[in-house]
Amino acid sequence: MNTQHLKKIAAEKATEEIRPGMVVGLGTGSTVYYALLKIGTLVRAGLDIVGIPTSEGTERIATAQGIPLSTLTAHPTINLTIDGADEADLHLNLIKGGGAALVREKIIANVSQRILIVVDESKCARCLGTTYPLPVEIVQFGWEATQRAVNQLCGHSILRGGDEHPLVTDNGNYILDCDFSPVGGITEPAKVEGALNNIPGVVENGLFVNRADKVIVGAAAGLRYMEKNS
Ligand code: 5RP
Repeated sequence: MNTQHLKKIAAEKATEEIRPGMVVGLGTGSTVYYALLKIGTLVRAGLDIVGIPTSEGTERIATAQGIPLSTLTAHPTINLTIDGADEADLHLNLIKGGGAALVREKIIANVSQRILIVVDESKCARCLGTTYPLPVEIVQFGWEATQRAVNQLCGHSILRGGDEHPLVTDNGNYILDCDFSPVGGITEPAKVEGALNNIPGVVENGLFVNRADKVIVGAAAGLRYMEKNS
């Protein structure tokens, strides 16, 4: 089975938890893309929901699908969020931000009553940070100084896009991709999440600790589920 199919079955399964009248957080990425297509189909068939997008990219796809969109100003609480991840461990802790949307994704996650994460099986990790670098969003001003301070924690990071053409996020910031693999991964995610966010210049990092309620894994053998407190 190819990876796209695994992403699709996981994403479509998550949409089964959407109920009429819900405010739905719309994540970002190639897996959530399939959820957006499915939600679009449901909306066109009469499902009454509003979505809050986590990125400008998702906003464009959702708009093209005819999904009604709103804001956190109008809807401060979100009933259900469907989002992807770059890595998920057995405790449902995540690395996110591969699609550069981690700041808005974490803001949305923070006000969500229920969070479903959709991944293919390649994203499952015994220890976070062993197969995927941790994205850290930083402000442009003095970014080299911020990078030096971040490197004290992770050892090595690269500016996404490179010095010549750095990637600029929807929020106008840069991203450092931090390689924790030489230090054996991220063994204490909560500690690292807090320590990174304590560095001046860091806006947010892609560690999502104890936030997901359920991870839906598309696997060659079928769907697998990891649930909080199970
Ligand atoms: C974007 C994210 C994405 O959810 C994450 O990168 C997974 O993306 P994909 O489903 O394309 O692998 O965190 O910031």
